[in-house]
Amino acid sequence: MNHLITTADYTIEDIASILKRAKLIKEKGYQITLKNKIIATLFFEPSTRTRLSFESAIHRAGGNVIGFSNAKSTSQSKGESLEDTIKMVSAYADAIVMRHPDAGSAARATTVSSVPIINGGDGANAHPTQTLVDLFAIQEILGQIKDFTITMVGDLTYSRVAHSLAQVLASYPGVKQIWVSPGELKMPDKIRDFLRTKSVQVTELSEYESVLSKTDIFLMTRVQEERFEDKSQYEKLKDNYILSLQQLKNAKASMKILSPLPRLYELPTSIDSTPFAYYFQQAADAVPVRAAILDYILNK
Ligand code: CP
Repeated sequence: MNHLITTADYTIEDIASILKRAKLIKEKGYQITLKNKIIATLFFEPSTRTRLSFESAIHRAGGNVIGFSNAKSTSQSKGESLEDTIKMVSAYADAIVMRHPDAGSAARATTVSSVPIINGGDGANAHPTQTLVDLFAIQEILGQIKDFTITMVGDLTYSRVAHSLAQVLASYPGVKQIWVSPGELKMPDKIRDFLRTKSVQVTELSEYESVLSKTDIFLMTRVQEERFEDKSQYEKLKDNYILSLQQLKNAKASMKILSPLPRLYELPTSIDSTPFAYYFQQAADAVPVRAAILDYILNK
């Protein structure tokens, strides 16, 4: 079945096909590609962009949505398992978009689902549809996905967005990756090892000021309070990186800032009106990208 659990489920050709569909939708408008389709959006963890951009895409493409944004309103609160929930909903819908706090939950869902599962984020593991949104943004900015330098900053331990993007970019030519984090929040070994097998050039730093002048894409990630068991550790690390107008004076003029959002301290609102800010455009384009993903999965 055509599940999307990690970006490893898709080839570069699959991704190119989705990005091409998204570009067509952005430029020419939505086609009724989801007529008579019911898509379930099951959000066991909070979301603004992922859930609502999926639901907007479904409505614009003529489909119907069922689902929930708060698992407390479901029979999970009576003790029903994830597997039984998915088994039931797969009888009610043509595809399931799900977000869950547990890493591996989307993969578990595929073992019982009779319809495609689309991972909208599973714990700190992966967020493949955000990766497609990020790749679309990079293509819009640079005109192509090759021969550039990306600097990823912040909570690289828990950022499923950084994990998914770092891995998929390993398959594109000439992409140099710079990872910036405090020692406590470094990229997991499994991502580092994967990139090593692909001979990708990676530089790891604890500050980004020295690389702004050679960065094309700057991905800022939030330090995620919800991932820390020890809140004092979060308090210690949350303000490590706060991008400033002063720092941006040293940036490459064409550099663009991406962020999965939500943002907290790391991206002050003073950055929003600079030519570097691309994160709101990135998030707006998530609607055509997610319409393209659903079209690809349901009408391939
Ligand atoms: N980018 C993203 O996943 O945002 P939400 O948490 O608001 O869905």
